[in-house]
Amino acid sequence: VSNDAPPIQLDGFAGSDRIFQRCVEASNEAMMITDLEGRLAYVNPAWSRIYGFSRDEALGKTPRILHSGAHDAGFYAEMWRQILDPRVGKWRGEVVNRTSAGVEVPVLLTIAPLREGDRAIGYMGIAVDIRELKEVQAQLLQQDRLASIGLLASGLAHEVGTPLAVVRGRAELLAAAQPSSSPGATAAQTIITQVDRISKLIKSLLRFSGAGRAAPGALPPMSLRSVLAEVEDLAAPALRKAGVSLRLDVDSEMLVLGEDQRLQQIFLNLVINAIHAIEEASSQDRTHARQIVVAARAAQTADVVEVGVEDTGSGISPENLPRIFQPFFTTKDVGRGTGLGLPIVAKLVDELGGDIRVRSAPGKGSTFTVRLRRPG
Ligand SMILES: Nc1ncnc2c1ncn2[C@@H]1O[C@H](COP(=O)(O)OP(=O)(O)OP(=O)(O)O)[C@@H](O)[C@H]1O
Ligand SMILES: [Mg+2]
Repeated sequence: VSNDAPPIQLDGFAGSDRIFQRCVEASNEAMMITDLEGRLAYVNPAWSRIYGFSRDEALGKTPRILHSGAHDAGFYAEMWRQILDPRVGKWRGEVVNRTSAGVEVPVLLTIAPLREGDRAIGYMGIAVDIRELKEVQAQLLQQDRLASIGLLASGLAHEVGTPLAVVRGRAELLAAAQPSSSPGATAAQTIITQVDRISKLIKSLLRFSGAGRAAPGALPPMSLRSVLAEVEDLAAPALRKAGVSLRLDVDSEMLVLGEDQRLQQIFLNLVINAIHAIEEASSQDRTHARQIVVAARAAQTADVVEVGVEDTGSGISPENLPRIFQPFFTTKDVGRGTGLGLPIVAKLVDELGGDIRVRSAPGKGSTFTVRLRRPG
């Protein structure tokens, strides 16, 4: 007598239907069966889990309840042409669906006709949730972009930086050789200002190819309050000009692991953005509140500090929100914004082992929350 279990023979095996059904019910992928009119006749538990509709809510409806509006009629026409074409007999591709809660979910969908003998009795669809895959893809794309910018930046810094330094030096000589406030001196001064603008841009670009992540142990503890006080000083002229008040709500004992330069750059960028956003909002409404609050508090996790930079500015529209950390994304006029501020901030925060999030109410304001590590 052998102890081995007998091999499962599904063909003609009495319980095979039940076994297949159990497989489908236990599957991690969403499966659905419709009749020939496209009405849902069966959905498995994974289908309900992914799409949020219970079996009862789904049965009798058509898969149109999942349409997100992301695809046009031509897309579906082509899908059905392939399914109904006996030489192809199926369709497979990426579709953006919508859950019962209205959330978009990208899936890899396969649809094929379901036959019994040579009679078509309906259609079956299998959908694989590829949300995570899409996120990873987007991250890779972003990293790729940053890497090419880094490469471009180091090339630029070298090829353009050197002649720029020469131009600036000669302009300084010219300025010095003219009586001050003469047209010649003013012109030379303009050259210097413009050269500095270019240099600043190149330096911003260079940050991408720069230092990389600092070793967590290597970062010294810094007083957050004094870093932010310096930022306040640096931003003072811009604040004054825009008539914006800045309130620091930071405990003087609060320490973060970081490094002066990086921390300053992070918060200066956020404060300048906030000033711009407030200026934009108040250009439409003179009575608009003009306040920035920078508040720090210990997070629930013991070794993390959350620093919020909250403004009463224009806010960020839902379409723009996912794009603000992309290099070169800007809504500002040429010369005013390059769209490198936030990507640099995100990189610096990452180098310090922290993260950054944003919440925004269009028309009311935005809050950028930077989470930094503090000495344990
Ligand atoms: N506090 C804010 N309120 C409203 N919109 C903001 C805020 N911060 C950033 N944004 C939006 O995000 C975009 C990108 O910001 P980012 O700092 O990366 O670039 P920029 O400010 O346009 O240019 P740069 O910082 O390079 O001078 C801005 O153009 C703006 O549309
Ligand atoms: Mg900016």
